[in-house]
Amino acid sequence: MKNNDLNSMSADDWDELNFPRPKEQDFDRVVERAVSRRGFLSGVLAFGSGAAVMGTAFLKGTTAHAQQASRFAFTPIPTATDGTVHVPEGYSWQTVVRWGDPLFSEAEGDFDQENGGSVEMSDKVFGENTDGMEMFLIGDRHVIAVNSEYTNRPSNLPQAEEGVPRDADDVLKLQNLQGVTVMELSEGENGWEVVVDSPFNRRITHNTPMRISGPAAGHELIRTAADPTGTESLGTMNNCGAGKTPWGTYLTCEENFNGYFGANGDVAVEGLAAEGRERYGLGADGWGYDYHKWDSRFDAAANPNEPHRAGYVVEIDPADPDSIPVKRTALGRFKHENAAVAVAPDGRVVVYSGDDERGEFLYKWVSRDVYVPGGDTSTLLEEGQLYVAGFEDDQTGRWIPLTPEATGMTAAEIAIFSRIAASRVGATTMDRPEWVAVNPVSAEAYCCLTNNRNRGVETNAGGDWQAVGGPNPREANNYGQIVRWRPADDDHATDTFEWDLYVMAGNPTVHDDAYAGSDNINEGNLFNSPDGMVIDSTGLIWIQTDGNYDNEGDFAGMGNNQMLAGDPATGRIERFLTGPYGCEVTGLCWSADRRTMFVGIQHPGAPFPDGEGMLPRSSVIAIKRDDNALMG
Ligand code: FEO
Ligand code: CA
Ligand code: CA
Ligand code: CA
Repeated sequence: MKNNDLNSMSADDWDELNFPRPKEQDFDRVVERAVSRRGFLSGVLAFGSGAAVMGTAFLKGTTAHAQQASRFAFTPIPTATDGTVHVPEGYSWQTVVRWGDPLFSEAEGDFDQENGGSVEMSDKVFGENTDGMEMFLIGDRHVIAVNSEYTNRPSNLPQAEEGVPRDADDVLKLQNLQGVTVMELSEGENGWEVVVDSPFNRRITHNTPMRISGPAAGHELIRTAADPTGTESLGTMNNCGAGKTPWGTYLTCEENFNGYFGANGDVAVEGLAAEGRERYGLGADGWGYDYHKWDSRFDAAANPNEPHRAGYVVEIDPADPDSIPVKRTALGRFKHENAAVAVAPDGRVVVYSGDDERGEFLYKWVSRDVYVPGGDTSTLLEEGQLYVAGFEDDQTGRWIPLTPEATGMTAAEIAIFSRIAASRVGATTMDRPEWVAVNPVSAEAYCCLTNNRNRGVETNAGGDWQAVGGPNPREANNYGQIVRWRPADDDHATDTFEWDLYVMAGNPTVHDDAYAGSDNINEGNLFNSPDGMVIDSTGLIWIQTDGNYDNEGDFAGMGNNQMLAGDPATGRIERFLTGPYGCEVTGLCWSADRRTMFVGIQHPGAPFPDGEGMLPRSSVIAIKRDDNALMG
């Protein structure tokens, strides 16, 4: 029987009472579990792959974790198909900020259901399609940086037929609703809310001046008529996942940048630039934003180098609203999902970043210089070595350096056409790498491989065959998996690692082969397409999904997109949150005292959060325990 009187005892005591631990949780039991997992492994091998799930290679370091108390302080919740958010009993949520909410008092009252807000105020409100985010404690103030990935044009331009921009103003409004929002939040009697007119509040849009740094800066492929020096660009775009440096800056990651560019005529490029247009999916029409019809910067026929100035990790100082964001080309140009930062034992900075496209690669960058707390960090992300991952079927792997010798390309060309460089060194094609998460309490990292219908079916955009095997063990992979690696010598800067699969999502109620998923998937925790992922300060893995929410066929019993928590040691995964119909759950950070968890609800399909008859609005929500205990 559950005791739900959370106020009468600590969270840990409550957890222990409601979820008693087996007494025989010792090393022998851990080994026993590993053996049963090897049983799963042989099943997968019979299926024709080399996948290993939760293998013995990872036992050494996880035994201590396995001996700890259970990490799950909540009662798992069922799936949902309705239009709102659900969290476990003993937890509550509230909306903190919605697309269109004012950051400055001049924009108060601007949002309306007929127009979705005015173009004039569109860069003075919270942006659309909330995604990666990080919290910064500046003095005693909570300043949050939040990505706005793309637009929901029928909602953002409700007067335009099917949301197709009608003029330059419509385009400007879309450009302003994306990018990054930096804003101060405070917690009062009504919960968390935006501090309107805070000096920290700032919108960074598709038109904000940026500085270009690193190997590509100044290169002829980066120069344009408006910027003949190739060092100053405008805007950051398709800001997907994020990252945070130990020195307090925000890393925003440019993902599907190609979608904003079109061409009103022939694009006169040759050589690598022509190959790059193919590889990065740059076409004449873009993805329906139609910028190129109203803003010539996005017309590649007029400005063929402009697309070379997007697709980077951008560093932003949230403490200085006047600072100029810096595009860090050293970290490569691809469809950056997020940027997960680790510091090596010698102080070098390591940044992991996946390239989210079918059959693209997983990258790592290691700084030349070391991070010294309190020292000058302004050029730390400028000089270093970019690597790409090569996975072997025997659960080992290596980071392959992308050097001029190995690729036949210059340092600038490697930075601008990293995909082409990675293909030339034979990197492993992956099942769409989404977020990487570094475990803060153990030398390991995880990457969500969200799904890949083309695995074993066709090549990637560069002509590399997408072989079935290694960490991508299933043909036409519609469920996704999470790969984990442990660097040699517990040092994220070393160039070899061991890997396994933490989980293979699947549906054991529909399939009895590898598509049933790994043995830590059961009827009670079904999900597909892991995407957002953060490991909290206790080492608990939070997994957010961006998958199929039809709730039928292969996806029967999975419901709306959701957020789950996973124990790295035992593989146990439980559902913590379900989102409104049609949404993606993406973005996660905590208040400084870790008593509030902030979660992003992107593109709800239902009229969330305001209810029937209202425009759906992407929102950041805050979740607390009713007893105000720690949230991670
Ligand atoms: Fe923006 Fe790959 O998610
Ligand atoms: Ca994502
Ligand atoms: Ca996704
Ligand atoms: Ca999305």
